[in-house]
Amino acid sequence: MPRTSSPTPVSVPAIELRGVSRRFTDPGGQNVGVQPTSLAVPAGEIHGIIGFSGAGKSTLLRLVNLLERPDAGEVIVHGQDLTRLSAPALRQARHRIGMIFQHFNLLHNLTVAENVALPMRLSGEPAARIRERVAACLDFVGLSAKADVHPGRLSGGQKQRVAIARALAPEPHVLLADEPTSALDPRTTLDLLGVLADANRRFGVTILLVSHEMEVIRRLGHRVSVMEAGQIVEQLDIADGRIPEGSRLGGWLAEFGGAAGGASSAPDEPAPHHLAQESANA
Ligand SMILES: Nc1ncnc2c1ncn2[C@@H]1O[C@H](COP(=O)(O)OP(=O)(O)O)[C@@H](O)[C@H]1O
Ligand SMILES: [Mg+2]
Repeated sequence: MPRTSSPTPVSVPAIELRGVSRRFTDPGGQNVGVQPTSLAVPAGEIHGIIGFSGAGKSTLLRLVNLLERPDAGEVIVHGQDLTRLSAPALRQARHRIGMIFQHFNLLHNLTVAENVALPMRLSGEPAARIRERVAACLDFVGLSAKADVHPGRLSGGQKQRVAIARALAPEPHVLLADEPTSALDPRTTLDLLGVLADANRRFGVTILLVSHEMEVIRRLGHRVSVMEAGQIVEQLDIADGRIPEGSRLGGWLAEFGGAAGGASSAPDEPAPHHLAQESANA
């Protein structure tokens, strides 16, 4: 087929890791962490990272906002190589990268609204703009009525909603989520995944989501990277929710069910969903 001359729009990846590594040495003298690895996530994608405990998922995620500095390689977020930025420029770039965590990381001596406002306060944004964003984001996560409550009074799901509002308030391009539902029960997990999917659709925020639960990634992700021993060993398109049969991931699911490693013992953790049958039928 002849090529037309009309230019194909080239979208700059929201996140690009080029040959990044971050090595730690474990007590046995083995190299762990992240071995040289690369990843490109297009703007607007929800990209899952799955792997067993210790595979390097959290380290990889923390490389994206330079909470971990890579030993080598480039970390490019919206076209900007973060490893080359001055400290003030890096602070600026980080305002557009939100992060949420398994244990929410809220400050318990502040109200919900003060928690959501905090990152914008720290970056010196005008009070009127902070008020407007806090109200909009609490409304988005359905917690306007809890603005003046302290987090200790909230359920786990509500706390994670506050954390999502806090991450979204500065209007990030990118949201990093490290096991965001692993401390929540199954129904609350579904609610939370709905909030994240909404944020992706309504604000176009690119989401990089780490989880050891395939069900979480399958429900939310467009593509998934599989990590083993500090490297991405497989990348799959799962937008239709199916796991290809011959894949490494399909093999795992057949062996272990939906949760990689079964490492977490949280009593209220969602039960692993057994996708083995589903992937065998795909
Ligand atoms: N700050 C650190 N110091 C030493 N070792 C670390 C550090 N952070 C992570 N590691 C090691 O790197 C490996 C990957 O850790 P991590 O990225 O937390 O994996 P995951 O999130 O997949 O469970 C593990 O062996 C872990 O012990
Ligand atoms: Mg982790």
